[in-house]
Amino acid sequence: GFSWTLPDHPKLPKGKPVAVVVLDGWGEANPDEYNCIHVAQTPVMDSLKNACSLHALTHRFCAILGCSREVETSEGSWNGCRSSIDDDMGNSEVGHNALGAGRIFAQGAKLVDQALASGKIYEGDGFNYIKESFENATLHLIGLLSDGGVHSRLDQLQLLLKGASERGAKRIRVHILTDGRDVLDGSSVGFVETLENDLSQLREKGIDARIASGGGRMYVTMDRYENDWDVIKPVKTLRAEPNANDQYLPPFVIVDDSGNAVGPVLDGDAVVTINFRADRMVMLAKALEYADFDKFDRVRVPKFRYAGMLQYDGELKLPSRYLVSPPEIERTSGEYLVKNGIRTFACRQVETVKFGHVTFFWNGNRSGYFDETKEEYVEIPSDSGITFNVAPKMKALEIAEKARDAILSGKFDQVRVNLPNGDMVGHTGDIEATVVTCKAADAAAKIILDAVEQVGGIYLVTADHGNAEDMVKRSKSGKPLLGKSGGIQILTSHTLQPVPAAIGGPGLHPGVKFRTDIQTPGLANVAATVMNLHGFEAPADYEPTLIEVAEN
Ligand code: 3PG
Ligand code: CO
Repeated sequence: GFSWTLPDHPKLPKGKPVAVVVLDGWGEANPDEYNCIHVAQTPVMDSLKNACSLHALTHRFCAILGCSREVETSEGSWNGCRSSIDDDMGNSEVGHNALGAGRIFAQGAKLVDQALASGKIYEGDGFNYIKESFENATLHLIGLLSDGGVHSRLDQLQLLLKGASERGAKRIRVHILTDGRDVLDGSSVGFVETLENDLSQLREKGIDARIASGGGRMYVTMDRYENDWDVIKPVKTLRAEPNANDQYLPPFVIVDDSGNAVGPVLDGDAVVTINFRADRMVMLAKALEYADFDKFDRVRVPKFRYAGMLQYDGELKLPSRYLVSPPEIERTSGEYLVKNGIRTFACRQVETVKFGHVTFFWNGNRSGYFDETKEEYVEIPSDSGITFNVAPKMKALEIAEKARDAILSGKFDQVRVNLPNGDMVGHTGDIEATVVTCKAADAAAKIILDAVEQVGGIYLVTADHGNAEDMVKRSKSGKPLLGKSGGIQILTSHTLQPVPAAIGGPGLHPGVKFRTDIQTPGLANVAATVMNLHGFEAPADYEPTLIEVAEN
């Protein structure tokens, strides 16, 4: 029968404190002026990397893992490790899920693709529920409009529009969030054109379909679904403003000739949030679903049928209606380890509408503790009201100090942190600020590794996906691409680059080395590795550990 008890590792001892440090948005790329990690002074990460070649002389080891895309197979290689088989970049949800779950699960993007391809999406309870509005009311689709593939995908929206209209939707309003974060800034205009083209084809078939409102993803929380044909004009007009930025485009509402919104949500309508990724949808889902919502005044609360593309929070069962079932990520490493007595401390910086990466995502999109008596999750608030390039060090120091204190306290067997710097500042596209933030993350890593040293512990340092190591859009051959104005095209998004992993510390058994027989090491291999570092064997169905113990 099934048992939570992990077998003892035959060679590795228990009782060594383990620090797991995830540098968010920290990949490996060629050293050039757009590699902010290379430009920044990062002596700690450099020393981990240099130790690769010296591993016989030191406890520090290094390997390169693949990036965190949700792929099951791979081909090609980068330093002998997993590289890209498709154009999907990694992201924090997929990356931290893999790090914590120790296995690779088909996730949001793929599950929605499958449901759309098989048509199952139209057979489920969620779709049947919203369909009740098709005859006499409006279907509203709200979500991120891009092909970034991190939170949503334009082609899925296109298929859903087609599928819903073929199944009776007569009046459709799309409320768009412009991206510029998972895709190039300025690309919003093109996505709006593509969507508008599809909508006009629907209109030719007699379906009243148009864009009704929108705004930048980091500015409009989509609670403003108040209200298009003319939408390209607002987007172009807003883009023409100095310093226009897709992520922060102000909200707009399309109105008709008499100044009335063309697509307000009214009693009897249906609303679908088309994003599959959870973290940035939960707040909106609450505002759409909760009767006793009190975070702001919704002013007008029409009675509409609401469904999410996915269920965004399995604990809260939010939203209660959804089109596609979320992945079931069970038996994560966090749960195993806690059940095997590992006292765990996890810390990360909170920023607007993000869950804990080393808690919620790590634990398979599960909020809350497995065992409150053995776990402590700490979140450090962000500066509010500013973009992260304005104060680029972020809260790296505070996170590191909390982690240090947790390590030195002796109260925890595992201390797990996410340092969001490279990612969050990388997403702003501000190269100078990204250099500053990389240095800050490196200094934070030093504080944590010094504490590990002091208590005779072990560290594992890795990253969930790339970002700061490449800030320019490149041609296939790797040359920086220029934009219309002649300057380089800044890359705000994640990258497809591999990420590093380093293991070491005075508590590490001297015989430990990286295995060379793992063909495509990836983030999902980390969970078994961490279990080993705690003195346990991993469950048989976990992706294999990265390490082995040499005989003498
Ligand atoms: C975001 O939500 O900030 C980006 O779209 C993805 O970034 P993350 O995957 O690093 O959170
Ligand atoms: Co990111």
